[in-house]
Amino acid sequence: MTGSSSSQQTDKTIETTEIHSHSPATAEPESNEQVDRKETAGDERQPKAENQVPSRSKRRGLSLRIKATTTAIAISVLPVLALGGMTYYVSERSSEQQANQAKQSGNPSAADIIYLTFLLKRQLQMGIAIGTGAVALLALAIALWLTNRSLRPVLGAAKTAAETAKLLRREGGETESDLEFSGADELIALKTDLNLLAVQIPDLLKQQNAEGDRTQLLTDITLRVREAQDLDELLTIAVREVRQVLKSDRVLFFRLEPDGNGTIIAESVTPGFPKARGAKIFDPCFKERHIEMYRNGRVRAFDNIYKANLGECYIQLLEQFSVKANLIAPVLKDGQLLGLLIAHQCSAPRAWQQSEITFFSRLATQIGFALDRRLPAEQKAEAEAEEHFMEITLRIRQSLKSADILTTTVQEIRKALQADRVLVYRFEPDWSGTVVAESVLSGLPKALGANIIDPCFKDRHVEQYRNGRVRATDNIYTANLSDCHIELLGRFGVRANLVAPIVQGKELIGLLIAHQCFAPRTWERSEIQLFTKLATQVGFALDQAAVLEEIEQARQELEGALRPRDRAIAAASFGLCIADATQPDYPIVYCNPAFEKMTGYSHSEAIGRNCRFLQGADTEPDAVAQIRRALHEQRECHLVLKNYRKDGSPFWNELTIAPVQNEQGEVTHFIGLQTDITSRRQIASQVQAAAQAVTQTTQDNESAINTLSLEAALQAEKIAEAFNAIQAMASSVREVAFKARQAKRKMEDADRAVRAEDRAMRQTEVGMTGIRETLLKMVRKTEYLDEVSRKITQTMLSLNDFVSQINVLAINVAVEVGRAGDDRESRELMAVAEAVRSLTEQSATATSEIEDLMTEIKTAINEIFAVMKQEAKQLNDETKWVAQSRQKLTQLVAINAQTSDLVEEIAQAAAAHAENFTSVSQLVRESATMADRTSEQSATVANSFAYLLAVAREMGTTAAQLDTE
Ligand SMILES: Cc1cc2nc3c(=O)[nH]c(=O)nc-3n(C[C@H](O)[C@H](O)[C@H](O)COP(=O)(O)O)c2cc1C
Repeated sequence: MTGSSSSQQTDKTIETTEIHSHSPATAEPESNEQVDRKETAGDERQPKAENQVPSRSKRRGLSLRIKATTTAIAISVLPVLALGGMTYYVSERSSEQQANQAKQSGNPSAADIIYLTFLLKRQLQMGIAIGTGAVALLALAIALWLTNRSLRPVLGAAKTAAETAKLLRREGGETESDLEFSGADELIALKTDLNLLAVQIPDLLKQQNAEGDRTQLLTDITLRVREAQDLDELLTIAVREVRQVLKSDRVLFFRLEPDGNGTIIAESVTPGFPKARGAKIFDPCFKERHIEMYRNGRVRAFDNIYKANLGECYIQLLEQFSVKANLIAPVLKDGQLLGLLIAHQCSAPRAWQQSEITFFSRLATQIGFALDRRLPAEQKAEAEAEEHFMEITLRIRQSLKSADILTTTVQEIRKALQADRVLVYRFEPDWSGTVVAESVLSGLPKALGANIIDPCFKDRHVEQYRNGRVRATDNIYTANLSDCHIELLGRFGVRANLVAPIVQGKELIGLLIAHQCFAPRTWERSEIQLFTKLATQVGFALDQAAVLEEIEQARQELEGALRPRDRAIAAASFGLCIADATQPDYPIVYCNPAFEKMTGYSHSEAIGRNCRFLQGADTEPDAVAQIRRALHEQRECHLVLKNYRKDGSPFWNELTIAPVQNEQGEVTHFIGLQTDITSRRQIASQVQAAAQAVTQTTQDNESAINTLSLEAALQAEKIAEAFNAIQAMASSVREVAFKARQAKRKMEDADRAVRAEDRAMRQTEVGMTGIRETLLKMVRKTEYLDEVSRKITQTMLSLNDFVSQINVLAINVAVEVGRAGDDRESRELMAVAEAVRSLTEQSATATSEIEDLMTEIKTAINEIFAVMKQEAKQLNDETKWVAQSRQKLTQLVAINAQTSDLVEEIAQAAAAHAENFTSVSQLVRESATMADRTSEQSATVANSFAYLLAVAREMGTTAAQLDTE
């Protein structure tokens, strides 16, 4: 997917273009453009002129101008000088003769004669010298003027001839050094050049005709090119026509992008050679090395790429298109390099002729003009594309977070390209990668999150993508991709893809990839361009986001570090302001909310001002002076002064100002801490007043309290005495009551004893009656028992009879059995008869025993009966005595009860008295206690007052201090 497999070179991708400059230019084009020409050794470029002219390189000598000038000087100056010399000589002689004649005449003195002679000589010499010089100069000027005038046409002709010859020589392939003839006599040169011209003029005429033909061709092609409907047609015509004229194997137009890369957008190629149209060329060096040269009109010709000392990769690039020789000319528009017109010779190296180079270069110029006219339409399209690009870029860059940028990117680009999938593939440090953002047509497999590991990617492609390579694959199945790469792309349904690098900072961080899934797709140049530019923008946006994120993180860290302090300052209850100590008049640069609240001035109102705006009419000048001194001496100060709020209300400001130093120990700021202590001051004065009042009151009441305390103590003493007396009375009354109670208790005991006696008697009486009745019942029962015994005896007798009869029966049975024999039944009957007999015997025995017993019982009963009768009579007598005793006891109890009541009353009365005494004494005691307490409290109050007084005095002092602080 990312171009990671081995043979992933797309059908359109060309990796590098390298063009080197190797040797000095060998020719100068007719036009301004410069031609770099790479020729091979021994390369025969141009047929030399058939009639060679002798070389002028050896011709040396004085130039015609120098010769003529020297001659003119000689002719004009020398005769004058000779004439002057002769005149001088003649005059010298004549002056000497005149001197001799004077001597001989004997008139003047010898000295006069000598002096006269000298004077004459001087005059004469000067006259001759001046005259000679003036004449010589005049003659020289005339001679030079005449020489120059006569030389000018000759020199002009020589120059023209020389230039013409020079051109001809260049056409003939002679080097610059061959043309060197400075210093030669122009006449000789003229002659030589004329000879040359004479020789070359026929060739020149021929060439002129060829040139004419080419010009005609150029005109024709230009016309056809200009008639083209659109840019494509224009370029198609241009490359086709040029190829026909040059008879080269390929001509192409390489469209240059602003970033120095480019695409071959038009091509005409001889069938059989590879096609280059659509190829993109990425050459990092191209921009730096060559753009400027081509912009200056450079034309380059390589006759044989293998002998031109080109870079290896450039040769490889050219080899892809089977190039052996090439010719490159810039296509310019208003000095702007639009592209390059390139001709290739593929079949063999080719020596490009100057005329061909010139023609080629002119044609490139014409294409530039044509493009210039065409371009408005293209420019419009480009402008629209640019606008589109800007819109998308804007949307991408609106997001400030990396994740948002990527999401927006894939969505926007997919929309813009109408692609089936756009994704961002992000590299890991080991060059594997993950799809981190994806926009995909619904129904297609999703690639988001897919992790792709390609071991070859690092070695093969990283560098290329780093250098800005963009790959457009129209059809992955014909793009010569490796099987595993095709398999990978196939997994995501890809048929065509477009891959551009995302570079963040200088790091290749990922790839922007567009997929076409349902069919192959020919990626248009404009699409590739847009895609590439957007990939670049994504890199910028990510870069920006990274910076922002870093800044944000740093800000957060900073904020985190500062927050507690800032919060503390902002939340401080005291005002805080910071003044800049480096600026005149220490303006405030910061104040906290408490400062704003305290002063009523907002942050913006305070910033930039000196804090003295808080002062007013009653601000203490001493305090201000104190601050001024402290600030001047850059030291801390602490004081209280009156300030005014914005609304004019005064407040007491407890101010501390401290200097802040930087690392160099220079004071850069002052911090001011303000506390509004107005209310504290008010409280202090209130406390002071209260303390004074307390002091006064306490002093006033102190003696009264002391008296009260004393009186209370006396009162307490007296009450205590009363209490003791009452206590004594109470205890004597209590004694009476106690004794009365004792008496009462004794009477009660007696009463209880009597009553107990009475109860015992009554019980005895009751018991006797009961006994008597019991006795009677026993007598009756004994009688009944006697009756029953008799009946039992009777029954026993009848029973005895019955037993006897059974016994007789049993004996009869035994007799009968004896008779019957000794069988088994008889034996059993015998046993039964035996048992019956035994029983009857036992019954008889028991019955006689019972009879005996009954007789005994009867006797006993009779005895009891007699005793009981006797007892009953005695009992009756005793019961009567008990009844009488009881009557007497009841009377005693009644008397006892009355006495007890009396005693009780006495005891109660005594108790009541005692109680009264107790309550009285309680009261007295309470009074005493209260008196004690009163006394104690009075003392405490007195002490408290003393303490209060002391406190009040202390408070007064503190408040006074507070007030003055
Ligand atoms: C940081 C700072 C805070 C200050 N705060 C106050 C203030 O709260 N109230 C006040 O009256 N002066 C304050 N001052 C003092 C005045 O700004 C000024 O320095 C003072 O009036 C002495 O200067 P002057 O004589 O030029 O007025 C402060 C000064 C500084 C540097």
